Amino acid sequence: MIKKKVLITGPSKGIGLAVAKRLLSGGYLVIGSSRSGYIEHVQHENFYPIALDVTNIESVKKAYQEISDRFDQLDIIINNAGIGPDLNQKTLQITSFDETFEVNVKGVVLFTETFLAKIAEKGSVIMISSKMGSIDKCIDSDSVGYRTSKSALNMYTKILANRLSESIKVVAVHPGYVKTQISEIAMINGRLTPEQSAENIFSFLESDYKTGSFWDLEAGTELPR
Ligand SMILES: NC(=O)c1ccc[n+]([C@@H]2O[C@H](COP(=O)([O-])OP(=O)(O)OC[C@H]3O[C@@H](n4cnc5c(N)ncnc54)[C@H](OP(=O)(O)O)[C@@H]3O)[C@@H](O)[C@H]2O)c1
Repeated sequence: MIKKKVLITGPSKGIGLAVAKRLLSGGYLVIGSSRSGYIEHVQHENFYPIALDVTNIESVKKAYQEISDRFDQLDIIINNAGIGPDLNQKTLQITSFDETFEVNVKGVVLFTETFLAKIAEKGSVIMISSKMGSIDKCIDSDSVGYRTSKSALNMYTKILANRLSESIKVVAVHPGYVKTQISEIAMINGRLTPEQSAENIFSFLESDYKTGSFWDLEAGTELPR
C-alpha cells in the first residue's frame, strides 16, 4: 500500500539519493528528477525517474506534462537539487554567483510554481536549504553566492507559506553538514553520512511540522531566518 507520492529533485547522488531510497523503503512512491533522466543507483518498482533541468523552463514544463499524464496529484515536493561552487571561498566570483542563483533560487521558484497545481490539499513543499543561509546565525564572510542563495530560498519559503496559508505546508530544512560531492571540504569534514541525514529528513516528513518554519535537522531545533 503506497503511503504518499513524492517528487524530489536531484536524487542522482548525495542527500537526494539517500532520501529517495529512504522514502521508497518507507512505502512512498517517488518520482525523481535528474538532468539526464537516468538515475543509476535507484532500482525500485515505486520509483519513476524523469528528465528535468530546474533552470530550464521548457524542461520543467515538459516534465510537468509527463508527470500529469501519469499521476493525478502529488503529496510532497522536495526541492533538493542545489549547488555550491563558491563554498568556502573568501572572494566573490560573479560566474559562480550567477550559476548558484540560477539553480538554488530561480530553479527552485520555477519548479515549485509550476508543480504547485499538482499538490494535493494538505500536501507539502520541502526546501532543502542550509544553516549557511540564516542571517541571524551568520558570523562568517565566505561563500557569498551560496549563503545569499539560501537566504533567498528561506524568504521564498516564507512568502509561499504566507500565500498558501494552511492548505499546503511549506518549510525549509537544513539537512546537517553532510559528506557529499557538493564540495571537497564537505566530503572530508561533513559530520553526517547522506543516509543519516536522510533518516532525519524522513522522520521530519512524518512529523507534524509547522508551515513557514526553518529547521536544523542535525540539531533537531528550529532556526532563525
Ligand atoms: N552537503 C551538505 O553538507 C549540505 C548542507 C546544507 C545544505 N545542503 C543542500 O542539500 C542539497 C543537496 O546537496 P548535496 O550535498 O546532496 O549535493 P550533491 O551530492 O552535489 O547533489 C546535488 C544534486 O543536485 C542536482 N542538480 C544540480 N544542478 C541541477 C539542475 N540544474 N537541475 C536539476 N538537478 C540539479 C544534482 O543532479 P545531477 O545529477 O543532475 O547533477 C545532484 O543530484 C542542496 O540543496 C544543498 O545546498 C547540503
